[in-house]
Amino acid sequence: MSGTLDRRDVKEPQLFECAWEVANKVGGIYTVIKTKVPVTVSEFGDRYCLIGPLSYKTAPMEVEAKEPTDPALISTLQAMRESGVKCLYGRWLIEGAPNVLLFDTSSQYHKLDEWKGDLWNLAGIPTPPNDHETNETIVFGYLVAWFLGEYTSRQLKTTVVAHFHEWQAGLAIPLCRKRHIDVCTVFTTHATLLGRYLCAGSVDFYNNLQYFDVDHEAGKRGIYHRYCIERSAAHCADVFTTVSHITAYESEHLLKRKPDGVLPNGLNVVKFSAMHEFQNLHAIAKAKINDFVRGHFYGHYDFDLDNTLYMFTAGRYEYRNKGVDMFIESLARLNYQLKSSGSSVTVVAFIIMPAATHSYTIEALKGQAVTKQLRDTVTEIQNRIGQRLFDKASRYTGENINEVASVDDLLSDEDKILLKRRIFALKRNSLPPVTTHNMADDATDPILNQIRRVQLFNSSSDRVKVVFHPDFLNSNNPILGLDYEEFVRGCHMGVFPSYYEPWGYTPAECTVMGIPSITTNLSGFGSFMQDLIESPEDEGCYVVDRRSKSIEDSVNELTNYMFSFCQKSRRQRINQRNRVERLSPLLDWKNLGIEYSKARQLAMRRAYPDSFEEWDEFDFSGVEKPPFSVPGSPRYRTGMATPGDLGTLTEEMQGLTTSDYRGWHGAQEDDESYPFPLVM
Ligand code: UDP
Ligand code: G6P
Ligand code: GLC
Repeated sequence: MSGTLDRRDVKEPQLFECAWEVANKVGGIYTVIKTKVPVTVSEFGDRYCLIGPLSYKTAPMEVEAKEPTDPALISTLQAMRESGVKCLYGRWLIEGAPNVLLFDTSSQYHKLDEWKGDLWNLAGIPTPPNDHETNETIVFGYLVAWFLGEYTSRQLKTTVVAHFHEWQAGLAIPLCRKRHIDVCTVFTTHATLLGRYLCAGSVDFYNNLQYFDVDHEAGKRGIYHRYCIERSAAHCADVFTTVSHITAYESEHLLKRKPDGVLPNGLNVVKFSAMHEFQNLHAIAKAKINDFVRGHFYGHYDFDLDNTLYMFTAGRYEYRNKGVDMFIESLARLNYQLKSSGSSVTVVAFIIMPAATHSYTIEALKGQAVTKQLRDTVTEIQNRIGQRLFDKASRYTGENINEVASVDDLLSDEDKILLKRRIFALKRNSLPPVTTHNMADDATDPILNQIRRVQLFNSSSDRVKVVFHPDFLNSNNPILGLDYEEFVRGCHMGVFPSYYEPWGYTPAECTVMGIPSITTNLSGFGSFMQDLIESPEDEGCYVVDRRSKSIEDSVNELTNYMFSFCQKSRRQRINQRNRVERLSPLLDWKNLGIEYSKARQLAMRRAYPDSFEEWDEFDFSGVEKPPFSVPGSPRYRTGMATPGDLGTLTEEMQGLTTSDYRGWHGAQEDDESYPFPLVM
């Protein structure tokens, strides 16, 4: 926005990046912020500070307090503290160690009603009394706007860019605009509220996007006030962006502002010194999953782990949006196909999605306990046999060498009894449980109900077994005690058949870890890969068509992908992991971070056009821009030199129409009217 002082220096701006998930893990936005830090720090150094909410539970683990050095920041925080604001300034303990400022919203709750009244007077946004999330959003938004106002009145030299993510952090944007605070703002949405709600129901979302009566739909779902906050953030920002073309299209119709561009999500890709180290990591992590499976399936462990494939889906529990419905249906069909083709392959399919639970089930705990006891007993017996063998061998003076190694002498009767006892403990009448936890809502849980409907009950004859772990993973868990990353590495394939997925980090993370995945062309990530690579499935990045196919056909396509994966030899799987891993540079922030730089530059140009008159092009001199090099084997689509090219952030974008979102068009519209591929 145009400020009071037109000549702030635009060459070395101060950047504040604000999100509800700063040092506060909820879902994918945390991953965006955290993994992007190294490239942002390399561009801004100490001129970068993240802003988030202060959680006293997690902050001590995430942040180390320190004193600010910027005089304007010191006096801003002092002034706010004197007015009773509690906050923590420090270093976020992640790679890149950025500055971070966390506000304690509870310290200003007494102002909530006053601020709600102000919001109504200022923007006509009504807020109901008992919506906790909105209350948090309001207090947080007012605190951030307060902070930016104080800061920009003390620091008059350099431009201040404030980048906000998602509606929970976006309220400060309309406040800054109304108060004429001299900052340039960027708003990035990672979904639209209405889109997520509509898709979770049973509407034909993508064919009707243009026709929704947005106010009515938001009102019907009780989210009108949240929707207003989101929409005002999108409209008041100098630059409005989102994470994929499909969400750009959705935002234009539901938020009524066409995004200025797309900022695809990257990852902090770690290159191993030895090329195949990630293959070894797969083997090590798989051995841990094998241990879990032996325990979980005790008494029914009649399949060969060497011929077993681990597939999984994971994420926040959004049954329809994350495509769990399609996953389970396809697993049932895969089970049928494997059985009828006489396949000896077993698939163990994991569903990792947090739900309300009471505790682990006794059965799940017992399984791990009895197999551990068996292993301990075998180790003890093994030691005793070793000792006996050594004694016999060292005292041997006779003729017949076979006497030394006679099993009957080595395995004592006590040991045999002990072993038998452990083996009897493995007997079980019931089938291995589908879920590892006692669910708070067992009878109505959609995942469990669908598993019941398709009857995937882990019986011996089933070639597809299911384990539903209704909690995120953690290496301290007593069962399935692995971190999420380690778990992914140990699996063979991730399956994410989402219906609503603005980006979808889970398949992207699989890719950089060298694990094949299946996603859909309704996910930002899936479309991104299809836009960049000619045949992503040849590279181990399968994309199910959920746009133009019927549900039945999409389910079959998914089933076929899984079935043909089951027919691969070990060598082919190893080869496919190598191919997938080689796609990592496409997802590296070192390449994608430039889109963020463009967004910030555009915001500054709009706010201070006079400062840019002599610049014809954006200046990215401060941005690390390594030569984009990827192995030759994947065939990349023509016309794109770098993944950054996919981003569309240019001023010219303004004049174009909806049809310009690359590769995406609403099913209702006429194919021939689309002039894509549209290379900027
Ligand atoms: N995730 C995790 N632990 C788990 C499962 C998932 O930390 O057990 C993380 C995963 O690494 C990913 C994020 O949760 O970064 C989910 O992000 P995504 O973009 O796929 O979905 P969102 O939740 O944002 O809709
Ligand atoms: C990695 C290891 C190999 C191992 C293989 C198992 O590639 O480096 O030593 O044989 O994983 O692959 P699989 O697909 O059967 O789990
Ligand atoms: C949102 C979306 C997800 C995306 C993430 C990060 O939570 O649901 O698809 O990956 O944000 O942009």
